[in-house]
Amino acid sequence: MKAIVYHGYGSPDILRCEDVAAPVPGDDEVLIKVRAASVNPLDWHFLRGTPYIGRVQFGLRKPKSTRLGADVAGQVETVGKNVTGLKVGDEVFGACRGAFAESVCVSESDVVLKPEALTFEQAASVPIAGLTALQALRDKGRLQPGQTVLINGAGGGVGTFAVQIAKSLGADVTGVCGPRNVERVRSIGADWVIDYTREDFTQSGQHYDLILDCVGNHSLSACRRALNPRGIYIIIGAPDGRWISPLPRVLQALVLSRLGSQSLTPFLARRNQKDLILLRDLMAAGKVTPVIDRCYKLEEVPDAIRYLAEGHARGKVIVSLG
Ligand SMILES: NC(=O)c1ccc[n+]([C@@H]2O[C@H](COP(=O)([O-])OP(=O)(O)OC[C@H]3O[C@@H](n4cnc5c(N)ncnc54)[C@H](OP(=O)(O)O)[C@@H]3O)[C@@H](O)[C@H]2O)c1
Repeated sequence: MKAIVYHGYGSPDILRCEDVAAPVPGDDEVLIKVRAASVNPLDWHFLRGTPYIGRVQFGLRKPKSTRLGADVAGQVETVGKNVTGLKVGDEVFGACRGAFAESVCVSESDVVLKPEALTFEQAASVPIAGLTALQALRDKGRLQPGQTVLINGAGGGVGTFAVQIAKSLGADVTGVCGPRNVERVRSIGADWVIDYTREDFTQSGQHYDLILDCVGNHSLSACRRALNPRGIYIIIGAPDGRWISPLPRVLQALVLSRLGSQSLTPFLARRNQKDLILLRDLMAAGKVTPVIDRCYKLEEVPDAIRYLAEGHARGKVIVSLG
């Protein structure tokens, strides 16, 4: 089968679309024929091996795993002997490692059935970005109906899910994005949209119960100014750094948090089948609709990653295998 592989750290130029042996599912796994995958900043970090501190885990000199792609949607082709909840032919989506390929093996517990009304491309856009937005708003942010939330980076993969999920939780939602995304962010339900080229949300005098920061382009003290006295600031994304970023910002947030009544906290999403089911239900109810920016072919994954790395995606970037 064809798969995107990399054997050392570097730019998207080093990625190759090669013939590799088809994977064989373990007892608790299913083999999925990949119909679509989505691209995440995570792929870019794995490819570059940055921040370097992460190489302790990914592989010091070269990547331990030569495959990329963490979000998948496709059809079950083979099931392991312990798998009880899925059968051959089922259409599923979920989280995996190595989704930029014609087939991939995943644990039964990492995927859920895809609703018929959803395309494979839409389904593949959900796992990382959708889980991040849901878990950050609901669990870390404890967002309640009527509360005010600001989403910085509202036009991107996580941001477009966060706007819709925050609305579904009954919040008053402000999205911050660039001029190209203003209409899009409004159309998915934001009550207020701030174009960051015209207005700095930390200088506006408005205060929010929760700030979900997918960008990290303001100082923490500036972000605190835009929070209510008992407000919560969640670090989802931070500016790229080669060595240990975003650790300094995270440590600073933890220290500042101890000094006052506001809470400043980092967040890392976790795979969770129940939450994937909840996202599926929100989509089936029409409360969340994935926003897709562009679709690329499997052999175009280097271009897809280059585009995402420019930092101005409008929703999710997809790899479609047809
Ligand atoms: N903590 C976790 O578990 C977790 C999970 C997933 C992702 N992340 C991180 O979260 C961040 C966002 O991920 P993503 O998948 O949403 O990335 P993405 O799809 O590339 O979106 C980034 C968005 O940021 C916007 N942006 C750029 N500069 C901005 C600015 N100055 N102000 C406001 N918005 C700005 C861009 O839109 P415009 O064109 O409008 O500028 C773009 O839509 C990344 O750093 C990623 O590594 C963390």
